[in-house]
Amino acid sequence: MKDFPLNVAIFASGGGSNAQAIADAIRDGKLNARIGLCVSNKIDAGVLLRMEELDIPTVVLSPRFFESDQVYTDQILHELESKDINFIALAGYLRKVPTEVVRRFKNRLVNIHPALLPSFGGKGYYGRRVHEAVLEYGVKWTGVTVHLVDEEYDMGPIVLQEPVRVEPGDTPETLAARVLELEHRVYPEAIGLFAEGRITVKGRKVVVGPRNAKR
Ligand code: GRF
Repeated sequence: MKDFPLNVAIFASGGGSNAQAIADAIRDGKLNARIGLCVSNKIDAGVLLRMEELDIPTVVLSPRFFESDQVYTDQILHELESKDINFIALAGYLRKVPTEVVRRFKNRLVNIHPALLPSFGGKGYYGRRVHEAVLEYGVKWTGVTVHLVDEEYDMGPIVLQEPVRVEPGDTPETLAARVLELEHRVYPEAIGLFAEGRITVKGRKVVVGPRNAKR
């Protein structure tokens, strides 16, 4: 892709409000990227309609449709290659990304998590369960984490984090709503750091370089 440093594939299983926020940031000139593909594992995921309305190609891929995990993985890689995808953003994607895809997209594959990792992350911590656990534990702050994806759930190097205060009387729903609103700002910003060539990964640390720095 000559005109865009990032040609992003969004992987999502749900409503796709984060995918929409990324598309909006691109439209508003705040993020120099394009969305070249949307991948979902759910045929009825709201994200598909949202992306189709923007003329973004979509594909539904679930391991259940394939005779083996390898054929499924090969199909994902084929879809990514055929669209010249060079960056993946998971946005509420409720399946594990095959290891081969994670390796091919090392340091070019991010996820957004609705809490401050490494707390309230890992297998089983998704959606409402994250916010329930936050409230049960009684932490005073939660927030948003954008991190690189490696082979372990929610464990990759952290790119950006921002906090959200837990208020007395919060329910999983009220907290989720405030966190989600922040996600919509933070995710495009985090992807923008990659688009601007400001990200260097040193071991498990992500170093964010100054604006306008060339790679
Ligand atoms: C977000 O809360 C995100 O942090 C999590 O899944 C949710 C996706 O929401 N990984 P949406 O589909 O983008 O609205």
